[in-house]
Amino acid sequence: MLIDRPYWPYPRIICHRGGGLLAPENTLAALRYARNLGFEGVEFDVKLSADEVPVLFHDETLDRTTDGSGPVAEVPFDVITRFDAGSWFANEFAGEPVPAFAAASALCKEAGLWANIEIKPCPGRERETGRIVARMAKLLWSGAPVLPLLSSFSTDALAAALAQAPELPRALLCTDVPGDWQQTLDRLQCAAMHVAFDRLDRELVAAIQATRRGVLAYTVNDSIDATELLEMGVDALVTDQLDVIGPRFAS
Ligand code: G3P
Ligand code: MG
Repeated sequence: MLIDRPYWPYPRIICHRGGGLLAPENTLAALRYARNLGFEGVEFDVKLSADEVPVLFHDETLDRTTDGSGPVAEVPFDVITRFDAGSWFANEFAGEPVPAFAAASALCKEAGLWANIEIKPCPGRERETGRIVARMAKLLWSGAPVLPLLSSFSTDALAAALAQAPELPRALLCTDVPGDWQQTLDRLQCAAMHVAFDRLDRELVAAIQATRRGVLAYTVNDSIDATELLEMGVDALVTDQLDVIGPRFAS
């Protein structure tokens, strides 16, 4: 554990949705891109197919980032993986599939990439998504030197993850920090809070860290904002701008 970051034993600069703005989000190509640029940590979103297989995906529907359409929650895994999740971004990524969570885990472990797994349930599937993702993460990272960090905006998903795999660290995601943040973090036994960067100030960062928890700011795409946040004491940044806020920005 880093002495100057006692509550954050993880990389400080983390690639949003795998490869930020430089590769199609939530794909294996994005994870490889981050690794090739020298990053040590990635964030990606995980939700369930209709038949409860965790996949990397952000939106509730397939439309924006694949050549498919309709709700992800209604499509079985073997159909989701046939869609093209790369062409919408650039021709060079044509044919890049929606990856299974298990495939992303294998790549992260092989590449030495630390993972912040955002549990991103489709509406109404909060508990099952938290339970299944936590169960699988526990198996996939069994014996790994550093465990992944499970984060979610959904307290139900985090509660299910806690019940399923209490040994996996959790983080509460929020845009506006709720007044009862400390009780919520206590209840969910969270190791960190992930907050929209423009809602943070020095006092709030210190108050969260005083409860022995890390603070991550998302999504920080401006180098001046990034510098200010690090000076404020924020432990880690999630960024899309991998070419501006590079792996050694905080060094
Ligand atoms: O985990 C930080 C960030 O990924 C949360 O927002 O919508 O990009 O998943 P979103
Ligand atoms: Mg996310």
